Amino acid sequence: MSETRIRIGIVGATGAVGRVALSLLEERGWPASDVVALASARSKGKWLPYADTELEVVETTPETLEGFDVVFISASSAVSREFAPIVVEKGGLVIDDGSAFRMEPEVPLVVPEVNGGDVLWHRGIISIPNCTTTPLVMVLDALRQLGAIERVTVATYQAVSGTGAAAVAELNEQTAAIARGASPQVAVYPYQIAMNVLPHVDSFKDDGYTVEEHKMTNESRKILHDDGLRLSATCVRVPVPVGHSEAVHVDLDRSIEESDIRAALNAFPGVTVVDDPQRTLYPMPHTAEGKDEVLVGRIRRDMSSPRGIAFWLSCDNLRKGAALNALQIMDEVIRRDALSPAATHKA
Ligand code: A2P
Repeated sequence: MSETRIRIGIVGATGAVGRVALSLLEERGWPASDVVALASARSKGKWLPYADTELEVVETTPETLEGFDVVFISASSAVSREFAPIVVEKGGLVIDDGSAFRMEPEVPLVVPEVNGGDVLWHRGIISIPNCTTTPLVMVLDALRQLGAIERVTVATYQAVSGTGAAAVAELNEQTAAIARGASPQVAVYPYQIAMNVLPHVDSFKDDGYTVEEHKMTNESRKILHDDGLRLSATCVRVPVPVGHSEAVHVDLDRSIEESDIRAALNAFPGVTVVDDPQRTLYPMPHTAEGKDEVLVGRIRRDMSSPRGIAFWLSCDNLRKGAALNALQIMDEVIRRDALSPAATHKA
C-alpha cells in the first residue's frame, strides 16, 4: 500500500459493485479509518462488515462528500451527475462506474492494462468502462500486437448482477418460485430471467441496436484510441448471478498461427488462457467469479474467414468489470502522481 494516506469514499457501498469494492479494499489491507461507505438516505445508519470491524453507512450529501482524495461512484447516472461535480469542486478525484461521463472528451475512460497513461489528463473525473467493454478491449489490445484489427463481432452473455443487487434477488426469487411450481414475479426485466435468455440489455435505439451495444463499440474505440474500429455487438442477459461471457470473432489484416495467438493472450497482463477442450477446460462465469483475471478459451481459427480468430471469454463483472478496475485506476493515478487534475500536476 502507498505510504500516503488516501481517504476513499464509496458511493453505492450497499450495492452489488460497492460491496465488492469494499471487500477489495479490505483484501488490500486498506485501514477502515480511511474508508467511508456512502449510499442513499434509505441506508443511512446501516452497518457493513469491513475487516474486523463495521462501517456505518452515511447518506450521500454535499456535506458528507467533504475531505476525500478519491470517491468511487457506483449507483445510477443521475447520482453520478449530481454528486461527481461536488466531489471535484471539493478537490477529490471521482472514479465513476456509470455511463454518465464515459464519452465526454474531457473524461478519460480507462482500463489500466490498455490505456493507463490516459489517467494523466483527467480533470477530476475518470470513468470506468461498461463491464462488457473492459475484458473485450484487453483481449483486442493483445491481438492487435499481432496485426491490425479489421472487424470484431461479439455476442455477450451478461450476468444479472450487472443490473444490480435487485436483479440478483429477482433471479433467486424467480428460480425458487419456479421450483415450487409458482409463477415467477417479474419486476426488474421485461420478462422473467430465470430459465430464460433476453436479447435485450438497456434500451433500443432506432437503428435496432441497444444502448449497451453502442456502448461496446464507442467505448472500445475511445480506450483503444481507434476511432475507426469496426465492432458490432449483440448483448444478451442470461440467468447467471455473477460473470459476464462473450463469444468474439476478430478479423485481423493477416493470418496468424494459433500458437502465436495463445502466446499473445497469455502474455497480456490480467488475461489468462484457459483452453483445453479435450479435458473440458474452458472459461465459464462460474469459474471466473471471484477471480481478477479475464479468462479466455475456445481459441480457434475462424472457419468462415481466412484471417479470422474465434474465442470465448469469461470475466467477473463485479471485479475486473467494475470494482477492481476502479481500484487499479486509483493505483495507476497514485503511481503516476496524478491525483490532482491535469492542469495542476506535472505532465
Ligand atoms: P441504497 O442501498 O441506499 O439504495 P445496485 O447497483 O446494486 O442496485 O446498487 C445501487 C447503489 O446505489 C446502492 O448502494 C444504492 O444505495 C445507491 N444509491 C441509489 N440512489 C442513491 C442516491 N441518491 N445517493 C447515493 N447512493 C444511491
